[in-house]
Amino acid sequence: MLVALLPGDGIGPEVIAEAVRVLDAAGVSDLSYETAPVGGAAYKAEGHPLPEATLALARRADALLFGAVGDPDCDRLERRLRPEQAILGLRAALGLFANLRPAKLFPELADASALRPEVASAIDMVIVRELNGDVYFGEKGMRTTPGGLRQGYDVMSYDESEVARIARVGFETARARRGKLTSVDKANVLETSQLWRDVVTEIAAEYPDVALSHLYVDNAAMQLVRNPGQFDVIVTGNLFGDILSDQASMCAGSIGMLPSAALDGAGKGLYEPIHGSAPDIAGQAKANPLATILSAAMMLRYSLGKPDDADRIEAAVAAALAAGARSPDLGGSMTTTEMGDAVIRALR
Ligand code: NAI
Ligand code: MG
Repeated sequence: MLVALLPGDGIGPEVIAEAVRVLDAAGVSDLSYETAPVGGAAYKAEGHPLPEATLALARRADALLFGAVGDPDCDRLERRLRPEQAILGLRAALGLFANLRPAKLFPELADASALRPEVASAIDMVIVRELNGDVYFGEKGMRTTPGGLRQGYDVMSYDESEVARIARVGFETARARRGKLTSVDKANVLETSQLWRDVVTEIAAEYPDVALSHLYVDNAAMQLVRNPGQFDVIVTGNLFGDILSDQASMCAGSIGMLPSAALDGAGKGLYEPIHGSAPDIAGQAKANPLATILSAAMMLRYSLGKPDDADRIEAAVAAALAAGARSPDLGGSMTTTEMGDAVIRALR
């Protein structure tokens, strides 16, 4: 199976290198890699953040392992040439509509959470966020009111097929975990959310083994801080998911720990740490590679049909932390490579 490696900018290449070393050390069978430039690195080499050859590799590959894009040198480029356009272009070209963000607190890191350790240690959830619709993609513009005031508007809309396909990802994800799905909306005031709630409830008939509940988004934000241990899988729209997934990530400790996936619903996915290119620490061997290593484990589980290898890598990350592996973001002084070494040692 072919994995496209897209290291990108800043700390992207540093953390991707460690993930590949861990995959090699885990002896995952039948994997081959091809690397292509993306983001600012691709702009500098080829004049575009998502070159044709990179896109062709992305289409051909079974899965994509992505570092991060973003380069201060490119800040003044016109929007279509900016590094961040690469990730948007890949999502659109590959139809990656489902964003999965697990948030799990490793018990050794309970002190790093924004929450009290006894509340934080219960966090083990996945947020499934719809990525291709909602208010980000509706009609938008600026106009002038009859009274002469400037007015901005962004239309929020979902059709029932869009809700149904993300709902199925939510149910499937819950079925593979603890069987609890919480659908988050604002059905008390939004038509979009009323449709969302109706469609999710209809799809629930296909998943009698999953326990479905509904929460309003304001209550969900409160519950995430009050008692995050109650959640298994949350499914929600693009806007609410953007906000709630960042909130959940801070509850679970360092940004350097959290993986993510963007899936097309047919087996292909782009896997990346939730963090960016971290220009402030790039080239200093300070980046924590665990988010990317955990993203590689998700890739094995969700795209490559190797859940046992995924389990082994996740267990090795936990064992490395238990043995004291700490990069600077976790309060330690290990380099990026030493963190990779610690995981590889734990694999053996
Ligand atoms: P960032 O996530 O790159 O960095 C935020 C802070 O967290 C920084 O202090 C950084 O040093 C630290 N940090 C991030 N990852 C870390 C790791 N693995 N280990 C240790 N510390 C880590 O976010 P920021 O600074 O807002 O954005 C920097 C660039 O990254 C921008 O150009 C932004 O557009 C881009 N970006 C790209 C993303 C992607 O490729 N999917 C996602 C988020 C931001
Ligand atoms: Mg965000």
